[in-house]
Amino acid sequence: MLILGIETSCDETAAAIIKGEKKPGGIYKLSVLSNVISSQIDIHRQFGGVVPEVAAREHVLNIIPVIDEALNTAGIKKTDARKKLGTIAVTAGPGLITSLICGVETAKTLSFAWKLPLVSVNHIAGHIYANFIDQKTKFNFPAIILTVSGGHTMLVLMTNYGKFKTIGETRDDAAGEAFDKAAQLLGIGYPGGPAIAAEAIKFNPVDSKQNSKPKVSLPRPMINSPELDFSFSGLKTALLYQVKKDPIRLREGEKCLNWKKRIPEYASEFQQSVIDVLINKTLKAANKYKAKTIMLAGGVSANKELRQQFSESITNKLPKVKLNIPGLKYTTDNAAMIAAAGYFQAEQKDFCDWKKLKANNNHELK
Ligand code: KG4
Ligand code: ZN
Repeated sequence: MLILGIETSCDETAAAIIKGEKKPGGIYKLSVLSNVISSQIDIHRQFGGVVPEVAAREHVLNIIPVIDEALNTAGIKKTDARKKLGTIAVTAGPGLITSLICGVETAKTLSFAWKLPLVSVNHIAGHIYANFIDQKTKFNFPAIILTVSGGHTMLVLMTNYGKFKTIGETRDDAAGEAFDKAAQLLGIGYPGGPAIAAEAIKFNPVDSKQNSKPKVSLPRPMINSPELDFSFSGLKTALLYQVKKDPIRLREGEKCLNWKKRIPEYASEFQQSVIDVLINKTLKAANKYKAKTIMLAGGVSANKELRQQFSESITNKLPKVKLNIPGLKYTTDNAAMIAAAGYFQAEQKDFCDWKKLKANNNHELK
């Protein structure tokens, strides 16, 4: 079955076509025929974050050309779309309501015009299903998924296709949000995740020239608590206080070269603090729920250090558990992941009536 996926929950207008097949032995093969993303990052950068009304207007301009390109790249003529496609899957929420409405209304119109069944996808479920793209083996359940994005930080227990339970979540800031705020605080740009990662990689702890005093040291919030919840706002505050009190910054100002040279150490310590907490809580959850599979999902899972350290920890500490990390291009917002979720929902006949579907910024993962 071919699925058209549509994603407009934040500042990426995205459409993708994937082919989903059920193979013998319960293996699902999901192949991406096209994955088109029109990013608005350059527009929002000047504001230091996403401006919802600007995002919605951009989606309106981009959505049809992006869908056209997705069909074209997949070798589907628009006039043949109703015959070739099996389902349309769209992100219904959570996200920015005005952005979501654009994708949802477009999907409803196409569903009506092309007489194709419609699937309403939860954005977080989409991030999770990114793990199922291009897989050759079967995942065994229960699975624990660490879902880390700009708006969410969750530990999800997946007991079967379409069966999710949130077993831990952030009590304040999401991990991606923490990266974005930390980068803003360090004055290194937007979006914060890639900016922090780019600075962190410059830090070499054994290089004595970089080892200026005092050493940057940040807390690992909630790491020793048995709960599976997270909290990142205290980490951001701790960073703020250390930056404010930094002797070099106080003495020479934030424009001086010596302060700029110190930013990689702050970025590296901040990144490591987030990674330590995320990995620790994932291991706790995997042990508690006797996970057979562990997966990573969401925009923050684009972080190279997180991907590497997550793999190393799980391979060392839980060698019998199957580990999966999605392909880099399926970590940040895209429509292939929405089409992937749509495929599994369509397999379970989880369709919705186009007349009834509404964008919902509080959409819950169930
Ligand atoms: O999943 P996503 O694309 O959008 C949401 O659903 O929120 O995630 C975006 C978040 C942003 O906060 C961004 O800073 C973060 O993912 N991010 C990263 C990296 N790339 C994107 N965080 C850490 N390291 C990265 N390399
Ligand atoms: Zn996302």
